[in-house]
Amino acid sequence: MAAAVPLPLPVMLLVAVAVMLVGAGAGAAGVRGGRQRQQQLRMGFYDKSCPAAERIVGDYVRLHVRRVPTVAPALLRTHYHDCFVRGCDGSILLNSTAAGAAEKDAPPNLTLRGFDLIDRVKGLVEEACPGVVSCADVLALAARDAVAAIGGPSWRVPTGRRDGTVSTMQEAVRELPSPSMTFPQLVALFAGKGLDVRDLVWLSGAHTIGIAHCSSFADRLYSYPSAGNGTGTVPPLDAAYAANLRQRKCRMGGRDAAVEMDPGSFLTFDLGYYHTVLKHRALFRSDAALVTDAAARADIAGVVSSPPEVFFQVFARSMARLGAVEVKTGSQGEIRKHCAVVNS
Ligand code: HEM
Repeated sequence: MAAAVPLPLPVMLLVAVAVMLVGAGAGAAGVRGGRQRQQQLRMGFYDKSCPAAERIVGDYVRLHVRRVPTVAPALLRTHYHDCFVRGCDGSILLNSTAAGAAEKDAPPNLTLRGFDLIDRVKGLVEEACPGVVSCADVLALAARDAVAAIGGPSWRVPTGRRDGTVSTMQEAVRELPSPSMTFPQLVALFAGKGLDVRDLVWLSGAHTIGIAHCSSFADRLYSYPSAGNGTGTVPPLDAAYAANLRQRKCRMGGRDAAVEMDPGSFLTFDLGYYHTVLKHRALFRSDAALVTDAAARADIAGVVSSPPEVFFQVFARSMARLGAVEVKTGSQGEIRKHCAVVNS
């Protein structure tokens, strides 16, 4: 599948600026796990072994996103959580076993959705070509197609990922960023995955779609930076907005109430998230933390004053990098038959 949509000339020029914004070295640098592994992923990996694979995934995802658009943010987040723990190897899709709790059951993953959809798509792909297409690839393709289906960017998804056989709750707890992290903590965590500061800034833009539960940002509603929690440099949530959430949504629905992260356009992939960040209305400390860094703040200001296509381009580029994090290829791992269980 081609990368982002073709752009008119003036926008192309802006995109050229955007590419400078993302930093000259970003695309050339290999993600952790090595340049060699990344090169083994390739566009059209299944062209001969399962030519229908990408069409089956795309058709099914588009059909379901049309019916239930909230599937799009769900799949995007699941793909990202997969890539951050043991690389993009489908380990997020495995169920816990008698031997131990899997990533799926780690607290940050309890709000993930879309596992059943992935299992169904994989079932269809298995019918067409048994034992050929990995769950990790199905998830990476599904996330891309779901975001495109709600009018968001599309990006290159080279394939050939193999599925991992290990999935532990503890690793997910350790590896996934927490919404209360500071900028330096987030930068360090992303760097550990071979992703740079710009990737952090642009990938956080995924929060332009989807919802968060009040429990995920309760710390910002009921306590303040001055309380001595070590995050004093992160600007607090806009006072009026915080009061509104406290008194309405998060009060009536409690910790389980869901709040749109980009209110009013939470299913439209647009610049709304960055506007909320600049207005101190982004829900998590980790979002607010982006403007505590002068360079990140300048990048955000640049993108916000450009057409949305610029954001699409930089986001697409960082998604392609995220999708290559520590992938297993060649003879590593396996091609799972069912995404929720390892092959026997
Ligand atoms: C930078 C560190 C990040 C942190 C701390 C973070 C944290 C969170 C949290 C706490 C939620 C809400 C969960 C809930 O209450 O239901 C959320 C939602 C979401 N995140 Fe992130 N996230 C980060 C980066 C990313 C990235 C890199 C992506 C994708 C590229 C992403 C995509 C999403 C999406 C799409 C949702 C909405 C999911 C839905 O509607 O079900 N996040 N994130």
